[in-house]
Amino acid sequence: MENKAFYVSTPIYYCNDVPHIGHAYTTIAADVMARYHRMMGHPTFFLTGTDEHGQKVEEAAKKLGKQPKEFADGVVEHFRKLWEKLNISNDRFIRTTDGDHERVVTELWKMMAAAGDIYLGDYEDWYCVHDETFWTESQLLEGKLCPNPWCKRPVEKRKEQSYFFRLSKYTEPLLKYYEEYPDFVMPDYRMNEVKSFVSQGLNDLSISRTTFNWGVPVPDDPAHIMYVWVDALTNYLTGAGFHFDEDKYRTFWPATVHLIGKDILRFHAIFWPAFLMSAGLPLPEHVFAHGFWTIEGQKMSKSLGNWIDPNEMVDEYGLDPFRYFLMREIQLGADGDFSKKNLVGRINADLANDLGNLLSRSLAMTDKYLKGIVPEPSDGRSPLAVVCMEGESRYHRAFDDQRPNLALIALWEVISRANKYIDEKAPWALAKDEAKAAELSEMMYDLAETLRRVAVMLLPFMPESAHRMLEQIGREPQAENVWTLGRWGGLPAGTVVKRGPSLFPRVEWKEDAPADPPKEEKPEKKKKKDAKPQAPEGVVFAEYEDFAKLRFKIGRIESAAPVPETDKLMHLSVNTGETRSIVAGIAKHYTAGELVGKHVVVLCNLKPRKLRGIESQGMLLVATDPEGKMRLLTTDGSPAPAGSKIS
Ligand code: ME8
Ligand code: MG
Repeated sequence: MENKAFYVSTPIYYCNDVPHIGHAYTTIAADVMARYHRMMGHPTFFLTGTDEHGQKVEEAAKKLGKQPKEFADGVVEHFRKLWEKLNISNDRFIRTTDGDHERVVTELWKMMAAAGDIYLGDYEDWYCVHDETFWTESQLLEGKLCPNPWCKRPVEKRKEQSYFFRLSKYTEPLLKYYEEYPDFVMPDYRMNEVKSFVSQGLNDLSISRTTFNWGVPVPDDPAHIMYVWVDALTNYLTGAGFHFDEDKYRTFWPATVHLIGKDILRFHAIFWPAFLMSAGLPLPEHVFAHGFWTIEGQKMSKSLGNWIDPNEMVDEYGLDPFRYFLMREIQLGADGDFSKKNLVGRINADLANDLGNLLSRSLAMTDKYLKGIVPEPSDGRSPLAVVCMEGESRYHRAFDDQRPNLALIALWEVISRANKYIDEKAPWALAKDEAKAAELSEMMYDLAETLRRVAVMLLPFMPESAHRMLEQIGREPQAENVWTLGRWGGLPAGTVVKRGPSLFPRVEWKEDAPADPPKEEKPEKKKKKDAKPQAPEGVVFAEYEDFAKLRFKIGRIESAAPVPETDKLMHLSVNTGETRSIVAGIAKHYTAGELVGKHVVVLCNLKPRKLRGIESQGMLLVATDPEGKMRLLTTDGSPAPAGSKIS
């Protein structure tokens, strides 16, 4: 990897909704990689951004009565602010509505057309608006749903004239490429999935649309706009300066790694390399597909009300603990389950106990036994120094393999060895014996130097905490980087340590914290609990856990329309921080006009169901008087803003 430019990208996220921890995860992982390579002195380029064209965004905008660009401008701010809050060091934030990008997409299209790979034809198939993807009848789930396991939404039949890309022509070239570069797709089990898919033969791909117009026009035929995935994938070229910045392009293309989730592997491992082959451009070195986070074992979704907002996690638990948890909890590539309980567990065990304690007890002992002054360097042959140096090689190897979580595992082995070393050496006993002064000084140096090295290696993962750690060790954080590792003894004798406040305070875990519904209890246990207070006749007590499962929020009614052929039902679009469709039985009590603009109480995680063919994602709370007249519940005083939580 020496002297090699490093270019890492995240997917560009759809800007039809606000970011959640899945988006935060990919972006933090890319950030860790970018920070590591910058520290190594490699020319580094880190790209993230937003995917703004396509029907999904057009529709989301329309619902709010906005122009797509105006709507996107608003959503993009949520992403930008979040990346700032998460200390993301991206070099560019690309938007597919950026002027240079539209030019590059047009350029790429022309190159593929010049290669004879684009033709006009007719297209008829089942279309999933959410995934912006056509499916054949046989691919559909239960004959009517999008087969993407992360989507499963109803599809619609579409027929349109369309430009096609000769993807079929690339079946063989792609297979050959996969053979030649077996780590093009990572992890290897994903490479195998892709190979077996492609080896069944590829169909040509429809790459233009005429039924809506929020997109980049096809050159010389503006009645067509480009398929959003042609547009989106090309962002990686635009970011690298293709067509506009020759120097940058030569330095950074081909990309080192496109980091993505497994949901969009097909697009990156099949379509994208085929487009590039057609245009005669080099292919990225790696496409790394990571796994998916579930929340308490369930798919994260707004309608289930288990959407995790990364902003809240940072406010509640701190930025670096959150970054650490996401990177440490699962192997990059594997799926994982997010729960606050596990997050708190990691903070207390790994950060407060292992690392935090090691730092504070080592510095306290340096103060006590050596007046706070780091002694002469040791020879680097102690068992601790040896383990530390081994950990370092594993650390670098992990990054060479694009597996930052293995780097953390290596570091924590060093940390736990260091804690054990203190117990073995018992410096408090050495300090009592004049004759053991040299041994004491040597072991205290080993500890301080180990801590310094660990802090440097933590810089990509927890930049702020690693800085504070270095300050406490008495170093100038700016002067430390990976080049001060290598040879043992980089921490100069005479350094004065500056013990500070605890870096990672313990977090209290409240078992009944309402935001984290407890898992199903064993039936025996439940019985015991239920046995205590007796409910009066005719009353069923709700356990606190039952109540804690319900998510209520304040919603603003954005639009309302009576459901045809019923006199009771009203179809509402309600903004609860996210837009949801709700069918409510209030049409006899309110007109559509009276409803729009009202702030109401919404039960957000009621299991979604269909009423008259319309999906209802929640329920409004109403009070019914003895005459049967209904009034919507609202908040006291001035209305609480949409998205406010109710507990
Ligand atoms: O697909 N766990 O955008 P998108 C982990 N615009 N990661 C998750 C996740 C989860 N539960 N949910 C989402 C698009 N992600 C296209 C991409 S690229 C040229 C165009 C992350 O907003 C993961 O990185 O749906 C996934 O691939 C990405 O968000 C999808 O983001
Ligand atoms: Mg998606």
